[in-house]
Amino acid sequence: MNLKKEFINYFVSLGHKEIPSSPLIPENDPSVLFNTAGMQPLIPYLLGKDHPEGKRLCDAQKCVRLTDLDSIGDKTHHTFFEMLGNWSLGDYFKKESITYSFNFLTKVLNIPLDKLAVTVFKGNANIPRDEVSASIWESLGIAKERIAYLGEDDNFWIAGETGPCGGDTEIFYFRSNDATPKVFDPKDERWVEIWNNVFMEFNKKEDGTIEELTRKNVDTGMGLERVVAVLENVDDNYQTSIWHNIINKIVEISGKPYQGNEESMRIIADHIRTSVFISADYAGIKPSNTDQGYILRRLIRRAIRHAKKLGIDLNSDWIEQVALEVIKKYENEYLEIKENKDIVLNVLKEESIKFNRTLEKGLKEFSKLVQKDQKVIDKDIAFKLYDTYGFPIELTIELASELNMQVDVEGFNAKFKEHQELSRTASAGKFKGGLASSGEVETKYHTATHLLNAALKQVIGPDVHQKGSNITSERMRFDFSCDHKLSDEEKKQAEDLVNNWIKEDLDVTMSTMPKEEALKSGAEAMFVEKYADIVNVYTIGNVSKEICGGPHVKHTSELGHFKIIKEEASSAGVRRIKAILE
Ligand code: SER
Repeated sequence: MNLKKEFINYFVSLGHKEIPSSPLIPENDPSVLFNTAGMQPLIPYLLGKDHPEGKRLCDAQKCVRLTDLDSIGDKTHHTFFEMLGNWSLGDYFKKESITYSFNFLTKVLNIPLDKLAVTVFKGNANIPRDEVSASIWESLGIAKERIAYLGEDDNFWIAGETGPCGGDTEIFYFRSNDATPKVFDPKDERWVEIWNNVFMEFNKKEDGTIEELTRKNVDTGMGLERVVAVLENVDDNYQTSIWHNIINKIVEISGKPYQGNEESMRIIADHIRTSVFISADYAGIKPSNTDQGYILRRLIRRAIRHAKKLGIDLNSDWIEQVALEVIKKYENEYLEIKENKDIVLNVLKEESIKFNRTLEKGLKEFSKLVQKDQKVIDKDIAFKLYDTYGFPIELTIELASELNMQVDVEGFNAKFKEHQELSRTASAGKFKGGLASSGEVETKYHTATHLLNAALKQVIGPDVHQKGSNITSERMRFDFSCDHKLSDEEKKQAEDLVNNWIKEDLDVTMSTMPKEEALKSGAEAMFVEKYADIVNVYTIGNVSKEICGGPHVKHTSELGHFKIIKEEASSAGVRRIKAILE
């Protein structure tokens, strides 16, 4: 049975429209690194905006959750996973939602009633105890002893700190061959959560207050890999058909059996799958020391450390071999995996070459400490491991705990911050130098990139974002996200818009403000993470507003005449325009 297909078909038959998975890296939401739930890309609609596809939606969304990083290695958690979901945007509520879920599980998937249990919200100061959901469950045949009332920690759902939220009801499956206990004990780990139906009635605002939504929504999420384990009757997600070839490859390369080495094998499999999806995303993430790039680096390096633990030859192409199994599994389903296959393999290869050079030396540092019977890794050693040997602090913590050692994490963080400030000042200095050498012509081109960026947004759509630019005194080059070759008409329109704005002689003004404020005001940012806390925002008439270091002209009429001379593909999902000012 293909669970994803069954799920989508079922909800489509109930009047839902299937929507595609959004990219793993959110395109217009700098507040999160990854989509963590199916509802994330739907937040504006959950808050009241009309969705173009209507009030009933369903999908399978690619997600990455970092809150579960420490649990990876067990049977049920993954950093990357696919979430099946259905939504009601101000349409049906508890009764239909619970009934739909129940029928899907028991009638489509044929899961025996006796294997199921549920939790419902026991209420708080704002929301009453959810007797409504409980009685719907009972009417469907769930015994009273299988319904647990839990508090906010378990049965109130919000993505992060603010946004649409509400009480929820969660469905559990007894994943064991033991006889199913009559009474449901949510603490018994044989009961695995498989589906969560959130009844979104509120919006939590930044000041912490909660307001009622005008439309009540349902947001559900079901973990694909957990339910596949149920359907395939295994008690370990990593033993399902999803992971079969990936785990087998690790078994083959290491020459060790899965039994007895589960933890490392699961970590390798999970982390490489996630790394493949992150580096395949059209956002073009590369391992680095900030944001998504840092997560990617951490995942790859942790996988490498566990490969070493299994005795895998780190100088072989093991990491590409495992990644290829992941690619084979997903390339027909997700276009970015197919299109960016070479990029992905290269990212993994390069990062492992880099880390292999220092891993051994870093581990030697550890054994020195062990020999000296030291119990604490002080801040200087933790920082040296990070800075010189490339050990993400989390890796140091993991290694230390295996050796019964402590790490001075606070001291490390302070040192890390100090170091960051130093390098920020250094790069600001460098930047200043760059500005000084920026001539009059380059300055004009610089302003032209902002106009072109704004023009492309009008001609192609608001999802166009700058992906890079390069300016010489001869021409400008501008890379932007776009899924198609521009037509002559589109090029002409963009060119005309820019030339009109030049003719209008718009003022170019600059103001300085905290980064958060700039982003909130809607200023365009190319790479949010690269900016300092205080940024310059350049505004051109009411046409463009961008975070930018400058420099820029004072009035657009200084630019002369703008002409596109070439439009071509740059990389997958990214187009490149070359233009001149004459
Ligand atoms: N948003 C809820 C969750 O992630 C249900 O989809 O569990």
